[in-house]
Amino acid sequence: MMATISCILKTTHKIFLAFLLTLAVTFGTQAQDSEQAEIATKGVEPGSTEGAETGSADPAIIDAGAALFKNNCAVCHSAGSDVIVGPGLKGVTKARSESWLISWIKNSQALIQSGDEHAVAIYNEYNKQAMPSFAFSDDEIKSILAYVDAQANVAAATPTTVAGPEGATPGENVGTDAIGAVGGYLDIILVVLIVVLIVLVVTLLLISSLLKNYLNKNRELAEDDREIVNQRFDFSKIYKSKAVRTLVLLIFVVVLLDLSLDKVMGIGIQQGYAPKQPIAFSHKLHAGEHQIDCNYCHSTVYESKSASIPSANICMNCHSQIKKESPEIQKIYKAIERNKPIEWVRIHNLPDLSYFNHSQHTQVGGVECQTCHGPIEEMDVVYQYSPLTMGWCIDCHRETPLNTQGNAYYDNLVKLHESSSKGAFTVASNGGTECSKCHY
Ligand code: HEC
Ligand code: HEC
Ligand code: HEC
Ligand code: HEC
Ligand code: HEC
Ligand code: HEC
Repeated sequence: MMATISCILKTTHKIFLAFLLTLAVTFGTQAQDSEQAEIATKGVEPGSTEGAETGSADPAIIDAGAALFKNNCAVCHSAGSDVIVGPGLKGVTKARSESWLISWIKNSQALIQSGDEHAVAIYNEYNKQAMPSFAFSDDEIKSILAYVDAQANVAAATPTTVAGPEGATPGENVGTDAIGAVGGYLDIILVVLIVVLIVLVVTLLLISSLLKNYLNKNRELAEDDREIVNQRFDFSKIYKSKAVRTLVLLIFVVVLLDLSLDKVMGIGIQQGYAPKQPIAFSHKLHAGEHQIDCNYCHSTVYESKSASIPSANICMNCHSQIKKESPEIQKIYKAIERNKPIEWVRIHNLPDLSYFNHSQHTQVGGVECQTCHGPIEEMDVVYQYSPLTMGWCIDCHRETPLNTQGNAYYDNLVKLHESSSKGAFTVASNGGTECSKCHY
């Protein structure tokens, strides 16, 4: 009898210990699960559900909208709720009227200047970054909005409805949604499990203390049995236990590793980076309104590797006369007096391991500044428009045909290329994806 009772007591302690362990483990893996779900969501490209038949709009319109969105909006907006440069557009068609959206997309600056309450509010919320204007027809804009709508529906729909027709790649979305749904069930199961476990532990503790009382009143108890009965539950034992320590450490390491891996993948990619500059210099004012040539200030951009940032003396060509009294212009004067360069914060910065040459692209390749840097002439504050990743460089090299017209150097190469392949003679065909071109 005594033996069974003390056995029950021991089991109570063991169950309590096991309970603590389960808690630790489930929370550890839960944290990971939700994070993986988050990563998966981020990884879904806006266009990856093209053709998915959801909502009432014509799939052809949605497809057209998807293409327009990808080419014009996706650098700054997601169709979900992630902020890239501008807000995620999920739900925007419900929050604003169609006519408001059309005038905003055609010319957001005009709408802001008209004093439209919401336009001003969202402009201020996003640090007065000007969204470029788009010369789209109303129908084109409506197709983009239909696409955004469809994306929102896709995200809300159950995985089965995503199984789109030809050309669609629903796999990614199904994955995400499935993870989301399973995550939801897991949460509920976890809560129920915890409640049950707590009830169980409380009941066991109650029984245990009742038994203890009963046994202590019982004189016939042998000495070592009494010891077991009165044994206190010792938390420091758990703490000292090697197994528990290793387990907690392991969980900690896994979670940490997962977090930092996510961070590392993002290092060096700073699309949208727009630091505050020491002087409120505006490209919109200089290159936009006053149409000063990029080359006037970035004077080496057509001749050398670097585009160069203008010295204070170049500013003085004009500002020795213009707006001398402005406090911002006074900062230029102070820099010259102190004989110190203005400390502009660098925005675009490739790692040293890669080689990029401006003149090769602007002069030789004839690529516009805006292709890589975006609508600089509309920016009050410059931001990094392109991701500047290796994939970005290589994608363009694969797609861009070389301008070989009237260049005898290329004649034989082009002939050789045409005899072996049907595609255009691109930068890549000329070796523009060879590692050594960009890495020494
Ligand atoms: C260069 C970046 C950029 C591009 C490209 C861009 N936007 Fe924007 N957009 C923004 C920013 C930033 C805002 C926030 C308001 C502001 O600061 O002007 C915004 C705001 C919006 C809003 C208002 C959202 C709200 O909650 O009211 C809509 C709608 C919108 N953009 C649609 C589009 C569409 C459609 C396209 C493509 C045709 C597009 N944008 C392209 C940067 C951009
Ligand atoms: C009046 C002089 C002036 C003109 C004209 C001008 N810029 Fe700039 N640019 C600057 C200054 C000063 C900076 C550094 C401060 C800043 O980032 O705003 C700069 C910065 C930049 C940067 C970011 C450099 C970095 O740190 O990575 C880019 C890109 C750029 N300019 C492109 C252009 C393009 C494209 C044009 C023409 C459409 C142009 N600029 C016209 C003066 C000028
Ligand atoms: C080719 C002439 C020219 C050059 C070069 C030039 N600016 Fe300007 N800048 C202007 C003009 C024009 C204005 C607009 C003045 C006005 O609004 O009345 C202006 C306005 C400004 C303003 C706004 C002043 C205010 O308070 O409204 C700042 C700041 C400024 N410039 C900084 C610079 C800096 C820094 C440089 C050198 C990198 C520079 N500018 C080079 C012509 C120039
Ligand atoms: C093919 C893409 C591409 C084109 C076209 C391009 N740039 Fe750049 N630009 C870059 C990259 C990439 C960097 C970062 C270079 C680095 O960190 O070494 C950069 C950096 C800059 C900088 C910062 C200073 C520097 O030299 O690193 C300025 C200023 C600049 N560009 C201006 C311009 C102007 C003005 C034009 C057009 C005449 C232009 N860029 C055309 C890709 C481009
Ligand atoms: C917008 C398109 C575009 C982007 C983006 C771009 N390039 Fe290029 N690149 C070109 C073109 C076009 C040429 C060909 C110039 C020519 O020789 O006519 C070229 C040529 C080159 C060459 C010389 C290749 C050869 O065969 O001699 C190098 C090196 C290079 N690019 C590096 C880079 C790097 C590094 C990046 C990314 C930081 C980059 N490019 C991004 C369009 C691009
Ligand atoms: C058109 C130019 C270009 C070519 C061709 C190219 N790279 Fe890169 N590579 C880059 C640029 C730019 C970066 C820096 C990207 C960044 O900071 O995200 C880079 C980064 C890297 C890195 C650093 C890892 C990382 O993600 O930061 C490695 C490794 C690398 N490249 C290897 C290669 C190999 C191997 C090849 C040949 C198969 C190659 N590259 C061809 C432009 C190029």
